[in-house]
Amino acid sequence: MTHPEAQQRIAELTDQINRHNYLYYQLAKPAIPDYDFDMLLEELTALENQFPDLRLPDSPTLRVGGAITKEFATIRHRYPMLSLGNTYSEEELRDFDLRIRKILTDSPEYVCELKFDGLSISLIYENGLLMHAVTRGDGIQGDDVTENVKTIRTIPLRLQGDFPSGIEVRGEIIMLKKGFEKFNEERMAKGETPFANPRNAAAGSLKMQDSAEVARRPLDNFSYFLLGENLPFKTHFESINALKNWGFHISEYTQLCPSMDDVLAFIRKTGEKRHQLPFDIDGIVIKVNSLAQQQQLGYTAKSPRWAIAYKYKAEQAATKLLSIDYQVGRTGAVTPVANLEPVRLSGTTVKRASLHNADIIEKLDVRIGDTVLVEKGGEIIPKIVGVDLSKRDLFASAVVFISHCPECGALLERAEGEAAHYCPNEDNCPPQIRGKLEHFISRKAMNIESLGEGKVEVLYNNGLVRNIADFYQLTFDKLLGLEKTIEASGTKKEKTISFRERSVQNILSGIEASKSIPFEKVFFALGIRYVGETVAKKLVNHFKTMDNLLKASKEELLEVEEIGEKIAGQLEAYFKVDKHLQTIEKLRAAGVQLEQNTDASEKLSEKLQGKTFVVSGIFSRSRDEIKELIEAHGGKNVGSISKNTSYVLAGEKMGPEKLKKATQLGIPVLSEEDFNNLLV
Ligand code: IVH
Repeated sequence: MTHPEAQQRIAELTDQINRHNYLYYQLAKPAIPDYDFDMLLEELTALENQFPDLRLPDSPTLRVGGAITKEFATIRHRYPMLSLGNTYSEEELRDFDLRIRKILTDSPEYVCELKFDGLSISLIYENGLLMHAVTRGDGIQGDDVTENVKTIRTIPLRLQGDFPSGIEVRGEIIMLKKGFEKFNEERMAKGETPFANPRNAAAGSLKMQDSAEVARRPLDNFSYFLLGENLPFKTHFESINALKNWGFHISEYTQLCPSMDDVLAFIRKTGEKRHQLPFDIDGIVIKVNSLAQQQQLGYTAKSPRWAIAYKYKAEQAATKLLSIDYQVGRTGAVTPVANLEPVRLSGTTVKRASLHNADIIEKLDVRIGDTVLVEKGGEIIPKIVGVDLSKRDLFASAVVFISHCPECGALLERAEGEAAHYCPNEDNCPPQIRGKLEHFISRKAMNIESLGEGKVEVLYNNGLVRNIADFYQLTFDKLLGLEKTIEASGTKKEKTISFRERSVQNILSGIEASKSIPFEKVFFALGIRYVGETVAKKLVNHFKTMDNLLKASKEELLEVEEIGEKIAGQLEAYFKVDKHLQTIEKLRAAGVQLEQNTDASEKLSEKLQGKTFVVSGIFSRSRDEIKELIEAHGGKNVGSISKNTSYVLAGEKMGPEKLKKATQLGIPVLSEEDFNNLLV
């Protein structure tokens, strides 16, 4: 395809795919099957790879991320991002109404909106194109998180219809409750700390350096405020409608309320159903509808006088603390969990509440038998927020955090500066072993589906697997006839089923198939603390083989993008343990992949054959992507500059030391564009 032909096709595809994205995500009315959509996107991706200079600023391929932001630039808000005055009482809302009426000549009409519990974002559009997305920061200036925000599919990259040339759109970035639960489960399965609530998860996501990772998070956006010069609208409601027509995601719950009575009715009605909403809200925002009246009312230093937030009180219930259990996870972290007398709270029965760690128990000074207050705020798991001391039994004694593992009896450890206690007996502590085995076979790791549904537990109980490498020693004879007891459906009776020929065959072929699972997944499957999917991928892309990883010094580990002291230290410690090395050798002997597959079919060309590159700084693509590209074209990546280096590929903010060294040794320094040209 010629350059002009590609240009036209890229423009067509960009438009078409953006339209389908809008129909799918915004209107929930897809017009074509997923497969056709994927084909269009694939075609565009291929063309953009071939002609990188033709990628449009609203390309839907930006939605999958890839850009890395090392440091977020600070941007000053054109219009400060204010907060809202708030209240918890209906009476104060009536006062607000009276106050306003005193200033205004005509009666105000209100718009009630949900108060989304996320983080506010300012979206700046010029001539219909999204130029910047800025966080609230201190209200005067915030962080430029544009690359990350572009991955959120309900935020238009280009506006549709008849829009003004320059606008700023304020809204909230949130994580849906469902997506949040799933995301947290995945985090826990990887041994990562779960986020306390969807708001924290959304805020954490926007500050990530790798936008491809942001793209994987279930984020959404609601827009609720339009700013700009000489806009044609008379009311807030009209401007919200315009936002909708331009392609923004607007809440369906926004309602016009002619009087304060209607406002209060809206608040009560929404209060009853707020827990059924798919996202968290912490109240209702009440805004004066007329923009002329808004102007008349004006602003205080901190907030508009024309709006107020009504906040719902977090629901609480009092109940008795019966006992505390201690749960040991796959990584050995010990979590105290309170057993409560069952109590109704925000639509569910609460029987258990997390007590997080020893510090929290101490801070609450909670004792067994106490009447405690449980609260369901933004959190999915209810928490204990206080103790009713008037009801305390005279003899109730303080909780002493266990010193030994409840499962294996080992003495617990607590690292300096860490809140969690850990059981160090990772090789003999049953829930840790079971957790590691389950992690090993899980979908994102070795993906041995035929071992799911409690079969691992049977193998473990029968003493057949103690270590992940043991899976590869299983034979037909060992498995046939093993028995598993399950609860018969619909009854309380137990039923025993035994492993029959078919299921044994399935298990064995699943294990056999896992030998071709790529090394990055194998490395994740090992279950090393802090090594989640992304970290495993980064390490494997960098080191390529298990042997290189085993040899790597801490300094070399630290050279890898996103690998800090904590992870490097953990890896170093892991590789020092004989038993781990033996496991790795057993996996090797079984034929599991311990090297990254450098399949010849992945080779794109020989253009960089024999050339060595040092890649440094920030690029429009992630550094890993660039390094992969170098290798796919036959080149080699090295960590530091020497006289043997062929090129230094310099991105933005490349260290001055490196640049100096390259100049001294006379090594050509390439920009990303020069590099692209090498490949065409
Ligand atoms: S309007 C000038 N509308 O609440 C007023 N804010 O406490 C601009 N928020 O920082 C804000 N839902 O992050 C507005 N429907 C809504 C909102 C909303 C949530 C947040 C926003 C703001 C904070 C104010």
